[in-house]
Amino acid sequence: MRVSTTGGNARTTVFAPRIDELLRKYRGADLFRLDKDTVGIADPHLISAIMTSRPASDAERPTFKPLWGQTISRPESTAVMRAVGQDVRVALKKPDAGRVDLSGEWPHVGHVYLRDLIFSQDPLRLRTLLDRRLEWTTLLTRAVITAGSALPGWPPPEAPLSHLGKLTTEAKGYHAKFRAMGLYRRTSAPVCFTVSQLVANAIWLGAPFDEGTANRDIIHESLRLLPVSWNLLRFASPEFGVLDDRIGPDDDILMLPLLSHRDPAVWEDPDEFRPERWASLDPDHQLGYLPFGHISERCWGRHMVLPLAERLLDMFREGGYRVDPAQTEAKVPLAGLFGVTKMKITR
Ligand code: HEM
Repeated sequence: MRVSTTGGNARTTVFAPRIDELLRKYRGADLFRLDKDTVGIADPHLISAIMTSRPASDAERPTFKPLWGQTISRPESTAVMRAVGQDVRVALKKPDAGRVDLSGEWPHVGHVYLRDLIFSQDPLRLRTLLDRRLEWTTLLTRAVITAGSALPGWPPPEAPLSHLGKLTTEAKGYHAKFRAMGLYRRTSAPVCFTVSQLVANAIWLGAPFDEGTANRDIIHESLRLLPVSWNLLRFASPEFGVLDDRIGPDDDILMLPLLSHRDPAVWEDPDEFRPERWASLDPDHQLGYLPFGHISERCWGRHMVLPLAERLLDMFREGGYRVDPAQTEAKVPLAGLFGVTKMKITR
């Protein structure tokens, strides 16, 4: 396990062995074989060529991949995204929660804050879907949804729920409710999980922040060093071999922003946390920078992620919080969401 230094502070980030190996062996490489039928790619140009060669298939979509074997249609995904977008806009208009205490273990504390900010009016059976423990197993999630869909006592249509909650309660009958609850989970969970992870990473890497440093620059820089979404998967496809003859017809492709974000050919001082670099860079058009995916399939949620993360960073900066000085190390496990765990914030 390698210990890597972070920024100008005395903290170190400890990567899981597999991540550490990827960084050590393949940073600056273009294409490499990860196993007999998976090829890894770190080269920004090749990543771009792969991403534009064909649209993502249903199974490759992180948020709206099929729900228990059933495709999620475009109207369904658009409807839930619109609803959650409205909920985030409403939440952002709420007065700053001066009374909220952000101290404790992150990203958990950030997750709970966002859940309560955005979805507090929803019934318990929906809010339970945002419980971090459901990450452990999809079987548990399914059990919660099965029980929630079957139980009587859903709120009436006029109840003051979130837009997403309303959409879910409007579904009629067990099967429709079951699906609607699955979609509620798919759409609400990323808001709390990804944003709290992103903010935890930013604080770990950079706090205390210089007064003049913009939150946006802090966010872009932390997404560069600790990209919450650290890999992009595309299943084997005939288009890929045409782009590079080292890619066989059965090879799946794992594109690695984790590596392209630290490529020394692209970035000056690639391991340094330097938010000021973004003063002269455009995050939407920066070669090799894909925290929200490639321009051809960019994340639908990024417009809500950024203001929510900025709000949390404002609260952290204005509330006099700091990383517990006794904590000098944080672990980054090999997980779907990339970032530090068990970071302690104090005042
Ligand atoms: C820090 C926060 C987030 C990051 C870093 C992130 C990253 C990404 C990335 C890298 C992709 C492209 C995936 C690919 O091409 O394979 C993507 C797509 C997408 N993201 Fe996000 N995302 C975040 C938050 C969210 C949130 C909060 C939502 C929804 C509420 C969301 C919804 C989507 C959707 C709908 C897509 C299109 C593909 C699909 O249907 O799944 N994202 N995101």
